[in-house]
Amino acid sequence: MKKITIMASGSGTNAQAIIDHFATSGLARVNLVLSNKSTAQVLERATRAGIPALSFNRSAFAKAGPVSNLLKQEQPDLIVLAGFLWKIPDYLIQQFPQKIINIHPSLLPKYGGKGMYGHHVHEAVIAQGEKESGISIHYVNEAYDEGAIIQQVSCPVQTEDTAADLAQRIQQLEHEHFPNIIEGLLH
Ligand code: GAR
Repeated sequence: MKKITIMASGSGTNAQAIIDHFATSGLARVNLVLSNKSTAQVLERATRAGIPALSFNRSAFAKAGPVSNLLKQEQPDLIVLAGFLWKIPDYLIQQFPQKIINIHPSLLPKYGGKGMYGHHVHEAVIAQGEKESGISIHYVNEAYDEGAIIQQVSCPVQTEDTAADLAQRIQQLEHEHFPNIIEGLLH
């Protein structure tokens, strides 16, 4: 059975979609959920699903140490960033080459980079009068949101959309596609 480790900072609706998708899979399971925030809802979701859930602070993450050792021990086949807001340190990218992926709520390279997450992205897309937005699943490299694209899925932006409307449309798209894209990578 292949192992998927999820890293997330917040509510974790994508983590939930991934946990649910693989709960009955013969291919892979979510083996561990990690967060940089001890109060993140994603940790409760994992615990409810019987999945080990841990949080860490900056110093445990910044240099090879506790997080790195845990991942070395667990040997995940894929590390999935599902709304994880800290930059991945270089040592971790080197430890898991081509095995860390991220989901971003825009059509990269547009509206990516530091500070571009969640509602900030959707507000910028609407402010620019874009007719289209979407999701990008990409490999993680040393630069924020610049790793090779694995897949993008687009959706329309309606003229009357608020950032909240667009966020909802994007979230549906994420839940529909992200687990399947992960499955494709693990085959
Ligand atoms: C998702 O929309 C994801 O694309 C975004 O955070 C949200 C997490 O939602 N990620 C980024 O903005 C990364 N720059 P969730 O906690 O409900 O899964």
